[in-house]
Amino acid sequence: MSGVKMIAVDVSQLAQNQKDPKIMKEFDALQPGRGLILIDNMDSRYFLKILQTTRRNSYEWWPLAMESDIWQVVIMKRGESTERTINDLLHSDHVRLHKLLEDHCTELDGDNVMLASIRFDEFRTGLLRHIKMEEEVLFPLYEKKTETTMGPTHVMRMEHQEIQELLKKMAGLLDEAKIEGLSKRDAIRELGNQIHEYLKLHNQKEEGILYPSSDQVIQGKEREEIILRMEAV
Ligand SMILES: [Fe+2]
Ligand SMILES: [Fe+2]
Repeated sequence: MSGVKMIAVDVSQLAQNQKDPKIMKEFDALQPGRGLILIDNMDSRYFLKILQTTRRNSYEWWPLAMESDIWQVVIMKRGESTERTINDLLHSDHVRLHKLLEDHCTELDGDNVMLASIRFDEFRTGLLRHIKMEEEVLFPLYEKKTETTMGPTHVMRMEHQEIQELLKKMAGLLDEAKIEGLSKRDAIRELGNQIHEYLKLHNQKEEGILYPSSDQVIQGKEREEIILRMEAV
């Protein structure tokens, strides 16, 4: 997330009981609209649970890396602590994923294959998580409420498959580029544009139809709960 300067809070060398107080202190010191990057050597969702309980609606939780021993999460402080809708949560994730893809393109244009590849990995981690939030948490409840699995969720699931194919293709190309250098740059650029265009249309459909309609059929406590469950994916 270039543009906004973020401090890195590396707790990987700390004992477990020292981690939460350290991260919370740094989070509480943030100005609204600013963020930190949490770096950890384990699944950092222990801290998400604390945020969900004690700082409800005042943060955004955006993982960049989610491997067993390498976790990196952007934690933003929200400007307002009003209750979020499903559309708020998923739309803001679309925006930040779009920015990560743009950052990848910028690094590629600057001939930095390694950084282009890192930005793409962050984008892919975030997008696969986003798809999981939709397919495993939101869609099943939406389908139950609307009593159909053949509506918009059906189309979105098919498009997710296409998106995942494109992501796989790109990961392969970037792996080759790390060895062979920039000979594949045009192909990477073209595929990046293809992913960008495909996602743009996909996101428009979700933001225009599926999310507003989800906010209509899922409200109150139930909406609050599903948002917490999506965050924890
Ligand atoms: Fe989607
Ligand atoms: Fe989405």
